[in-house]
Amino acid sequence: MLIRRRSDIPSSEITPESAYINRRKFLRKGSLALAGMTLGSAGILRAVMQDGKSWKPSNPSRYNTTEDLTSYQDATTYNNYYEYGMDKEDPEAMSGSFKPQPWSVAVEGEVKKPATYRLEDLLKGETLEDRIYRLRCVEAWSMVIPWLGFPLAHLIKRFEPTSKARFVEFTTILRPEEMPGQQRRYLPFPYVEGLRMDEAMHPLTILATGLYGRSLPNQNGAPLRLVVPWKYGFKSIKSIVKIRFVQEQPTSTWMIAAPGDYGFYSNVNPDVSHTRWSQAKERRIGDFLKRKTLPFNGYADEVASLYSGMDLDKNF
Ligand code: MTE
Repeated sequence: MLIRRRSDIPSSEITPESAYINRRKFLRKGSLALAGMTLGSAGILRAVMQDGKSWKPSNPSRYNTTEDLTSYQDATTYNNYYEYGMDKEDPEAMSGSFKPQPWSVAVEGEVKKPATYRLEDLLKGETLEDRIYRLRCVEAWSMVIPWLGFPLAHLIKRFEPTSKARFVEFTTILRPEEMPGQQRRYLPFPYVEGLRMDEAMHPLTILATGLYGRSLPNQNGAPLRLVVPWKYGFKSIKSIVKIRFVQEQPTSTWMIAAPGDYGFYSNVNPDVSHTRWSQAKERRIGDFLKRKTLPFNGYADEVASLYSGMDLDKNF
């Protein structure tokens, strides 16, 4: 997602990621050991549970991957959320005063039931499933996160889109007083993303309200975010306040910021490089060695048919 000059890039990104993460892990292990000394075994047990890798789903989805989970700590402290800053630690450090409650979502456009819905009403009747999905970032790192969520298709059906609705556009909240990155304007806020209607209706596309069985922390997009596991992570827009059904393909924030790098579809594609780096490999956060990136982030069997006949080099 980088549109910065080299001189603007913080040292956390210049440091090779493995070294950076390992340094943080080392520091964390140090503090764990200290916690053990001062808190005794109850403290150690709590600290180990917080790691989240041993977390088990209570309401598993049939789409779950069985790959090892990223630790809760990494999933909630190494984030992209430019509304709070450009460094990976900024979202956790700067999101403390954000208020995710009360929350409502405006539903607009080509739809029979446009309204501003309270979050409680949107969630009424929904069963939250634990969806263990990979998240692959365009910066060539990835995580495996147990999201807590439900299919976006359920809500779309309730809103009753008209036959003119061909795309869905999502907008993040604009609240510069609580989101310091929005005061800096390095992206055209509010953050906007979009999906084609069939992508939005696909059972893998979910709205998440939590992870590891808990509510979403602010830095992960509280109280409601999208997760589209076969696309680069930036499509998974956070803290959604507007869902608009439209005829024309929406223009996303990243398409405005860097049109040569970020297209509308943004399906994970190891064969199409970013203009400044390859997408062929990725580093799973917590791993030392890189692994090959899979087409559609490993979800090709489920979603490749959505794009049959399309030139995916052009429609990147
Ligand atoms: N949504 C908003 N509103 N603002 C953002 O900066 N970053 C995106 C996406 N959603 C972003 C966003 C990017 S680049 C990624 S990789 C994922 O969120 C990261 O999600 P995570 O921090 O929960 O891992």
